[in-house]
Amino acid sequence: MKNIVLIGFMGVGKGSVAREMVKRSRLVSLDTDDIIESMENRKIKNIFAEESEEYFRELERKVARWLQKKVEGTLISTGGGFFKVPNLKKIGTVVLLNAPFEVIYNRILEHPDSGKKLRKRPLFQDIERARALYEERLPLYLKVADIVIDVSDKELVTIAREILKKVKK
Ligand code: S3P
Repeated sequence: MKNIVLIGFMGVGKGSVAREMVKRSRLVSLDTDDIIESMENRKIKNIFAEESEEYFRELERKVARWLQKKVEGTLISTGGGFFKVPNLKKIGTVVLLNAPFEVIYNRILEHPDSGKKLRKRPLFQDIERARALYEERLPLYLKVADIVIDVSDKELVTIAREILKKVKK
């Protein structure tokens, strides 16, 4: 079976959706940010602060090459910028989780741990910059996606079922 690759903007819920899908299927999952943090033995925000964004992007490309060569039949959740690696589609079926920027931002703010959720994301430190990044990326996300799922106003279980149904077709 092909891998399923979840892409989408920061905070859209890729990790939560992946966990829900794992609960409801026989899939196992990997997360590209988790792989990078364990490769480097430090948090993403420290990689950005102590190295650079470009250093982080190079690690994403390294992980992408490994996924393409070595991983199959797996659900892969990714960081919000991972979709820019070369040959993304060769890793698996690309599923975009999408919602309007305001929906994503409000959902983060409503979270009991919202401060932590924002602090761990170097590219979500300034709301106007994050909004501009969202607008810049949206057409690119849509272009690379095989399947697009609108996640606004949907329960996790509904989203998980919708993806599982669509990837089986
Ligand atoms: C990034 C998104 C983050 C993380 C890094 C860069 C991005 O992942 O990979 O901070 O460029 O959008 P999440 O999408 O899980 O927040």
